[in-house]
Amino acid sequence: MEQQPIRVTAPGGDYDIHIQRGLLRQVAALLPKGRPIIITNTTLAPLYGQALAEALSGAALLQMPDGERYKTLDTVAQLYRDLVAARADRDSVIIALGGGVVGDTVGFVAATYMRGVAFVQIPTTLLAMVDSSVGGKVGVDLPEGKNLVGAFKQPDCVLIDPDVLDTLPPAEWRCGMAETYKHYLLSASEGLAALDAPGVDRAAMIRAAVQVKVDVVQQDPFEKNIRAHLNLGHTFAHAVEQVSGYAWLHGAAVGAGLVAAARLSAALQHCEAGLAQQVEETVARIGLPTRFGDLDAERLYAAMATDKKWQGGRSRFVLLRGVGQPFVAHDVPKSAVMSILEGMR
Ligand SMILES: NC(=O)c1ccc[n+]([C@@H]2O[C@H](COP(=O)([O-])OP(=O)(O)OC[C@H]3O[C@@H](n4cnc5c(N)ncnc54)[C@H](O)[C@@H]3O)[C@@H](O)[C@H]2O)c1
Ligand SMILES: [Zn+2]
Repeated sequence: MEQQPIRVTAPGGDYDIHIQRGLLRQVAALLPKGRPIIITNTTLAPLYGQALAEALSGAALLQMPDGERYKTLDTVAQLYRDLVAARADRDSVIIALGGGVVGDTVGFVAATYMRGVAFVQIPTTLLAMVDSSVGGKVGVDLPEGKNLVGAFKQPDCVLIDPDVLDTLPPAEWRCGMAETYKHYLLSASEGLAALDAPGVDRAAMIRAAVQVKVDVVQQDPFEKNIRAHLNLGHTFAHAVEQVSGYAWLHGAAVGAGLVAAARLSAALQHCEAGLAQQVEETVARIGLPTRFGDLDAERLYAAMATDKKWQGGRSRFVLLRGVGQPFVAHDVPKSAVMSILEGMR
């Protein structure tokens, strides 16, 4: 039975997020009008891209290389040229088929090619389904830093087929679970309360997690206030990624970052110590690290202090008063943060 899509109200127009097992075989019926052009990566083309192109009566299938290191302006430029060669015009519909790297890069292409063309997201990682495909942020990295160039580009629709997760590498699944658990901590959503239980209904879990992100971005589409709550655990996580020279996967860093944020909340007496314990147990059950290992506490702190969101050197953390009660704390003393970092070695 077809489940109701989730309707999103966005500044650039409303759109639907369809979540349905087997949806990839029914894409044709859901696309906006126009000539579809699929852009994916070299890993996903043989897995899903070619079948999708055939189902769309021979739609063009463009490919970018796989990996965050290709989320660049060079890739964007190559895709513009591939689009010209495929005779894409303002009536084309660009379909991003892939994880967050493909979604962010191709979304930026769709926002700018001929001043913007129709855009459809078909996210294929758990992270892309519950996080990056929702909210309209697209863009690429520069050598100087991640996500430094970008735009807001709302999709015409988002099509989520949980069955494609069967082929997702387990480490990528765990990374998506870190963001899904973050959505639970932000919202106390009932649909996410048992997310690490064996045999959990994947489609239902994704639907609940998408709803949390939709609720946040609808209230704050341009990240002026509460959208900042989505950074729970991420101040720590970005520092871990940076200090480890990106040896840590983002989701793994978020796992440990959620533990740190909960511990800091408890240490500053914003929440009960039991919450920090609960977060740590859940992160461990998901299979993500709960410690920073040999990463030096001073270096982690220094990396956090360069965060562009620490305006004027004032520290800024998203903390919890309880599950579903996030808030932004300013001017947390360095000593409090250092004792969390040192306690998590
Ligand atoms: N725009 C936003 O709001 C937002 C939010 C969060 C993250 N992001 C961005 O998302 C990116 C990370 O995305 P990600 O975690 O999806 O990583 P990813 O796109 O690199 O995908 C991870 C790996 O899984 C492979 N893969 C994807 N789907 C698969 C499938 N179904 N079967 C087998 N293999 C599959 C990919 O080819 C890749 O090798 C980062 O660049 C991050 O900055 C953006
Ligand atoms: Zn994240």
